[in-house]
Amino acid sequence: MTVLEAIQRSAVFLEKKGVESPRLQVELLLGHLLKVPRMNLYLNFERALTPAELDALREMVRRRGLREPLQHITGSTSFCGLELIVNGSVLVPRPETEQLAELGWEFLNAGTSKSAMESVAADTAAALHEVPPEWPGRPRTALDFGTGSGCLAIALAAKVASVQVVAVDISEEALKIARANAARHEVKKRVQFFAGDGFAAVPSGMCFDLIVANPPYIPSGEIATLEPEVRDHDPKLALNGGTDGLRFYERLAREAGLFLQSGGRIMVEFGDGQAVAIRKMFEQQKWIVEQVKPDYSGRLRFLEARLAE
Ligand SMILES: C[S@@+](CC[C@H](N)C(=O)[O-])C[C@H]1O[C@@H](n2cnc3c(N)ncnc32)[C@H](O)[C@@H]1O
Repeated sequence: MTVLEAIQRSAVFLEKKGVESPRLQVELLLGHLLKVPRMNLYLNFERALTPAELDALREMVRRRGLREPLQHITGSTSFCGLELIVNGSVLVPRPETEQLAELGWEFLNAGTSKSAMESVAADTAAALHEVPPEWPGRPRTALDFGTGSGCLAIALAAKVASVQVVAVDISEEALKIARANAARHEVKKRVQFFAGDGFAAVPSGMCFDLIVANPPYIPSGEIATLEPEVRDHDPKLALNGGTDGLRFYERLAREAGLFLQSGGRIMVEFGDGQAVAIRKMFEQQKWIVEQVKPDYSGRLRFLEARLAE
C-alpha cells in the first residue's frame, strides 16, 4: 500500500469513528511513524509502506479510532515550541494555554534586559506592567499552581533567564511527567516541583512575583458530555472544577494574595462563559483586575490581577 492509499483509507475509517479532521490526524500519525514532517508525506505519496510500517500505522489508527488522543499515541505535544512528554497522567496542554505562558513571561521579563534594543522593549513592558522600581536587576520568581505536564512552569523557565519557578500539583503521577519534561528542557535547576493540595504544597515562607494557574474548571456534571478524547483520557483531577466549575478560582482569590510579592500578579485561565463570575470573585477579595483577555477565537479566557497597595 502506498503512503497516499494508507492516508485515504485510514481517514475514511477515522471519519466513521467520529474523529475530527480525520485526514490531518492520519497525516500526523504517519509523519510521527516515519519520522518526517507531515508536509514531507506529500513528496512521498507513491512510496510503498513496508509491512512493519503498515502494521504500526494500523495499530495507531485503531487506537485513534477508539478516540484515544493523538498526543497519547505519539507520546508528546508541542507547547510554546517545546516538545513535552504527555500521557494519561497529565492534561494534554491546550494551545490557548500558550497565551497564558506568554502573558506570564512578558510580565516577568519586564525591566530585565541588558541590550539597548531589548531594553526599549523591556522598558515598555515594565511601564505597561508597572514593575516596582526595586525589581529591575533581580531574578524573578513564579509559582505554577496545578502544573500537570509542567508546561507553564517550563515555558516560563525557558523564556525568562534566571527565573526560579515553583510548581505544585496534587497528582504525584503528573509530577513525574513534569519533572521529566523539565529535565528534557534543561531547566531542572530552576523549576522545583512539590506535591500537595494547592498552596499547602508551597514551602513555607515563599512568595512570588507571579502566580499562574490553569486549574480544573469543568463543572462536575458536564464532564460526561465532553468529547471522548477529553472525558475518557484526560485525568478527572485535571478537569473537575466542582459543582459550578469555579471551586479553584474561589480558593485562588482567597489564598493567593498571601503568596504574592508586593507588585506581583496573578494570571489565571478559565473556561468560556466564566469571566464575569471569576472577575467578581477576585474583586470581592479586594484584587484589582488589570485585564480580562480573550483567546485567539475571541472568547474571554484569561484574567490578570494584582493586590491593592
Ligand atoms: C487543567 S489542569 C492544567 C495542567 C497544566 N497547568 C496545563 O495548563 O496544561 C489542572 C491541574 O491541576 C491539578 N490539580 C487538581 N486539583 C489540585 C489541587 N487541589 N492542588 C493542586 N493541583 C491540583 C491537576 O492534577 C492538574 O494537573
